[in-house]
Amino acid sequence: YLVDKGNYRHFMEKEIYEQPEVVSHTLAHYLDLANGVAKEFDTPFDFGKIDRLAISACGTAYLAGLIGKYWFERYARLPVDIDIASEFRYREMPLSKESGALFISQSGETADTLASLRYCRQEGLPIGAIVNVRESTIARESDGVFPTLAGPEIGVASTKAFTCQLSVLASLAVKAAAARGKIDKDQEKRLVRQLSEAPKLANQTLKLSDQIEKLARDLSHYKHVLYLGRDTNFPLAMEGALKLKEISYIHAEGYAAGELKHGPIALIDEQMPVIVIAPYDRIFDKTVSNMQEVAARGGKIILITDAKGAAHSTVDTLDTIVVPDVPEIVAPIVYSLPIQMLAYYTAVFMGTDVDQPRNLAKSVTVE
Ligand code: G6P
Repeated sequence: YLVDKGNYRHFMEKEIYEQPEVVSHTLAHYLDLANGVAKEFDTPFDFGKIDRLAISACGTAYLAGLIGKYWFERYARLPVDIDIASEFRYREMPLSKESGALFISQSGETADTLASLRYCRQEGLPIGAIVNVRESTIARESDGVFPTLAGPEIGVASTKAFTCQLSVLASLAVKAAAARGKIDKDQEKRLVRQLSEAPKLANQTLKLSDQIEKLARDLSHYKHVLYLGRDTNFPLAMEGALKLKEISYIHAEGYAAGELKHGPIALIDEQMPVIVIAPYDRIFDKTVSNMQEVAARGGKIILITDAKGAAHSTVDTLDTIVVPDVPEIVAPIVYSLPIQMLAYYTAVFMGTDVDQPRNLAKSVTVE
């Protein structure tokens, strides 16, 4: 497979910009966008019958799974256990025979994820895998494959595979919600219609690149960054921190905003910018209180929000990135883009090897 960078400086940049298209392809694989229903597709799980879902994965794929947990539990009322695969494989978890096991892996070759899959196979669970490489070992050893249609991902730091994993997880959550009778036809239609807007909204968000590039210049002067978010923005905060540390080598941590008082607040000073991911949703005000706590300690805030959030926030920020208004289920896909761009442009300013960051491998096939 020959892939080139086209007019982009790095594969990562190209892959960031491909997202509206590949997310659109992936969603169309699972959802009948015209009729507003989840398609009939093969699944190893009977979503109407299973009582739990055990998800394991590594790295960025794990963080996609964590967002999936919020969706399966919220929309389908399906409890999810989610683990880092290297923990899952050794932690001797009791697994109910009525559960399904779901593995997420871009490459389909990650050693710990594969070992977790084999463990669940021994336990007799039905096995599904969200993979980007259809010919991979994890795909082969699964009972059913949910492909991401991201195309080959070359940059070591995952971008488009992540948003495609989110697209699959959101689609599966809608499917499960319908199968379990937790949403009616109208609600299913509404969720599918909302998801179908993701590519357009992602496209609009990519237009923020100039502002984010300027901000990245400032960010490249710091040694530590804290990312905060609540609900699905908590895993996204961890993903923002992971992207930043992987390619710019700036130390970054992602925290649940509500945990601020339980530790990271001790680190706040003007030397550690705090990036807050907070769309104007039902818990926005809670996050505003956290920002006030940061501001009161001289912390500099970078707020990623929508127009309403920007209008309702009462704190001074170093910068506010205003993304389009998005429905709740689409937010994680759209808010992924500014955090990816911020990591990307910061790394470019630092002059690091963006596509091949030091010490990291695209696919970790040894334990
Ligand atoms: C490596 C890559 C990450 C990726 C992780 C899991 O750490 O650098 O980008 O998220 O492996 O890989 P997988 O192929 O299983 O998704």
